[in-house]
Amino acid sequence: MSSKPPSYFRQHIFFCLNQRANGEASCGDHQAEAAFAHCKKQVHEAGLSGKGQVRVNKAGCLDRCAGGPVAVVYPEETWYTYVDLKDIDEIVESHLKQGKVVERLLLSPEVGR
Ligand code: FES
Repeated sequence: MSSKPPSYFRQHIFFCLNQRANGEASCGDHQAEAAFAHCKKQVHEAGLSGKGQVRVNKAGCLDRCAGGPVAVVYPEETWYTYVDLKDIDEIVESHLKQGKVVERLLLSPEVGR
C-alpha cells in the first residue's frame, strides 16, 4: 500500500481577483486585489509563508460571485467573504495561524454565481 507524501503547503488561501468589464458582479469591484496583497504581507510577517506552511494565491472567478469578494482556504474548503482588511487580519490570525474558523465571515452555503 502506498502512503501519501506530505503536502508541500499545509494550506492554500485563494482570492478571487476576477474583474468583469460588462458590469456584472465581480470580486474585483470590492478591493480584492488589495485584500490579496494584504493577506500575503500578513502571512509573511507572521512567519506563516514557505514550504510546509501557508500559500496565498490569486484565483480567477470561483463561481460564487454573488457573495463577493470571496476567498477559500484549502484543504478545509472553508469559504469566506470579507469587507475590509481587518477581516483579512482576522482570517490570518484565527484560521491560518490558530486553526480556528472565523464563523462571522463564512460564506453562506447557498451563495452561488
Ligand atoms: S467574480 Fe469572484 S467568485 Fe466570481
